[in-house]
Amino acid sequence: MNQKIKDKVSTMEATLIDFRRTLHQHPEIAFEEIETTNRIAEKLEELSIPYKRMDPTGILAEINGEQDGKTILLRADIDALPVTELNDHLDYRSQVKDKMHACGHDAHTAMLMTAAAALNEIKAEIKGTVRLLFQPAEEVAEGARKMIEQGVIEGVDNVFGIHIWSELESGKVSCPPGPSFAAADMLTVRFKGKGGHAAMPHQTVDAAVMASQFVSTLQTIVSREIDPLHSAVVTIGKMEVGSRFNVIAENALLEGTIRTFDAVTRDKIEASIAQYAEHIALLYGGTVEVDYERKTEPVVNETHSAKLVQSVAAEAFGESALQEEPPTMGAEDFGYYMAEATGAFALVGSGNETKDTCWAHHHGRFNVDEAALKVGAELYAQYTLAYLDQSEF
Ligand code: NI
Repeated sequence: MNQKIKDKVSTMEATLIDFRRTLHQHPEIAFEEIETTNRIAEKLEELSIPYKRMDPTGILAEINGEQDGKTILLRADIDALPVTELNDHLDYRSQVKDKMHACGHDAHTAMLMTAAAALNEIKAEIKGTVRLLFQPAEEVAEGARKMIEQGVIEGVDNVFGIHIWSELESGKVSCPPGPSFAAADMLTVRFKGKGGHAAMPHQTVDAAVMASQFVSTLQTIVSREIDPLHSAVVTIGKMEVGSRFNVIAENALLEGTIRTFDAVTRDKIEASIAQYAEHIALLYGGTVEVDYERKTEPVVNETHSAKLVQSVAAEAFGESALQEEPPTMGAEDFGYYMAEATGAFALVGSGNETKDTCWAHHHGRFNVDEAALKVGAELYAQYTLAYLDQSEF
């Protein structure tokens, strides 16, 4: 553990909270983070850290250590959500109607900026290069891909990211080796039958029957087709069929999501969905179009990186700060970076009953215990030094 980092983060705590609150008041959603990008640029200029603007939003900054070594990429996501903030009692609540930092990305941005300031101050001790990525559009699962297309991951040896987590007690750190967030895919299915009069079904092919049969039959993919020891979710969240009580529907549109952790299960589900849809259409005399879109890669913590996060956190915050959260079927587009380089993604707890910060992410009452921000900021910086100081992986 580096004491200078700890001290610097501690003296910057008020600035850190202030920056988070400024961002919180001015939320911008995916790929519209123009003011947010400007604010980040302004802070980096104050620190004289070189950076470049990404397209269309986001920033990649770089601190070159005075000694040679590896390259680590630190990532914070910067986008907000189309959610109405319900925290009327907060004087720093969102000033933008129906937009809110309801996932804590304001906290991530402020934490990474603080880590940048701390690391920049001890540049002479850094062996290698630190890339700081302020990534847009995490909430629509497109930002990471867009950043990778623009070269952020080239030459990177290790990646590290943090998510503030309201379900975890404030100040705790969770980073177990193995899977933590699932791959999230999107499914669109269009059945086409033949519409007609509700009283003359024999002249029609009923899209409502095909669609409902499909939703029911789909349930057996998870229960009968995949290894019961492998986790998976198949959910149809939307079904649009028909227009009137006495007209047989010609078309049905279904949308859903598939969550998995491993490639074998994911491939199997994708193939089974197509097979089920085609056979149901065939059975009833209709046709079907299936569009299966892979949206995010799973977040799987590489063992060495995760163990290093744990040992750094234990040293910096005490053994009692460590906790192992179970994996979630929720998604995080950080998995894209992990497909390109080894790395880890940590959760930093921000839940505190007395401060009313245990609300679910994406809820209008969501808020962060700001005492956790310095933990996240320090963890970014301490992990970076620890990784660059050793050379085993
Ligand atoms: Ni988030």
